[in-house]
Amino acid sequence: MAVLRPALSVPRALVQTSLRQSPRCAVSRRLLSSSSSSRSQNNNAPPTTPEYAVPDPSRPTHFGFETVTEAEKRERVAGVFTSVAESYDRMNDLMSFGWHRIWKDHFVASLNPGFSPLSSSSDPRSPQHILDIAGGTGDIAFRMLHTAHVLNANPSVRVTISDINPAMLSVGKQRSTSLPASQQAALSFVEANAEDLTRTTPLLTSTSSPSPVPPQEIPSESVDLYTVAFGIRNFSNIPAALREAHRVLKPGGVFACLEFSKADKFPLFNTLYKEWSFRAIPLIGQLVAGDRDSYQYLVESIERFPSQTEFRDMIVDAGFVVAGEGYEDLTGGVAAIHKGMKPR
Ligand SMILES: C[S@@+](CC[C@H](N)C(=O)[O-])C[C@H]1O[C@@H](n2cnc3c(N)ncnc32)[C@H](O)[C@@H]1O
Repeated sequence: MAVLRPALSVPRALVQTSLRQSPRCAVSRRLLSSSSSSRSQNNNAPPTTPEYAVPDPSRPTHFGFETVTEAEKRERVAGVFTSVAESYDRMNDLMSFGWHRIWKDHFVASLNPGFSPLSSSSDPRSPQHILDIAGGTGDIAFRMLHTAHVLNANPSVRVTISDINPAMLSVGKQRSTSLPASQQAALSFVEANAEDLTRTTPLLTSTSSPSPVPPQEIPSESVDLYTVAFGIRNFSNIPAALREAHRVLKPGGVFACLEFSKADKFPLFNTLYKEWSFRAIPLIGQLVAGDRDSYQYLVESIERFPSQTEFRDMIVDAGFVVAGEGYEDLTGGVAAIHKGMKPR
């Protein structure tokens, strides 16, 4: 019999432990000169959007170690993932010695999709809409469906895989054909920039109608669980994406992010890890995928991503409440899971 854990376990923790909802995040204060309003612990109103969280194509950001505009980063990130799409899954295994699978399994298990003991309905197996942002080739979405439909016996969970890159989504769509039919039916693929979820388009396939489909909005307060795994560091404007996450989530909905992070609590391990990242990963990219530059970008983007506490503060600044420290380190901080709940 399946062992059931409390699903979307953040809300329970959130009501029991100290809430953190800071008025201003240190990283945005340092990187972005703008002011945002302070929010009290019980203020459910959506936070006002500060100027830095509105995408601006000409605003400087970084692409790995280079300074570029937001628009240029978007284009170059698109180039990276179009280039790596076909080799992406194989390269992940090689670069992480398979650890990414363990992290993803743990991430999904910690969210326990399909079982919501705190849901407003009396049935903990009520329907859920999960939005997997930057879902790429489907690793998170497929695990979500398996946990919800098979382990939690809840076939009313549906998952939308959203990604800006049609090449990554196409690999995911092809992979999804090996899922059981009921899971395939609960899955949809859309192209969208995470910074603006008011304009999504269904992934076009070779059998799709050639007539262009007008962009559709992901409605406000329509999503129960928003996930993003190894995607957010590639965004041109992370605060904008966090605010979109806040908009589309229902009150009580959960934002959950799995991302590379800082392992600097363990200096010797960190030194070895960085040696491996900067020396081996671009080389493996060159030898296996014939693409050194894309993998050089990937390691540089990890280095540039905010620390656990800085990113936690950005999540709080976007209007989420977090439990305890707001994050969980994996493998000494090589990766971390951050969760936040949209206040009810
Ligand atoms: C490293 S892959 C992660 C894929 C998948 N989530 C996983 O864990 O295997 C990063 C993904 O982020 C997507 N991405 C980058 N910028 C994006 C944006 N602004 N909006 C949506 N997706 C984006 C890329 O196209 C790519 O598929």
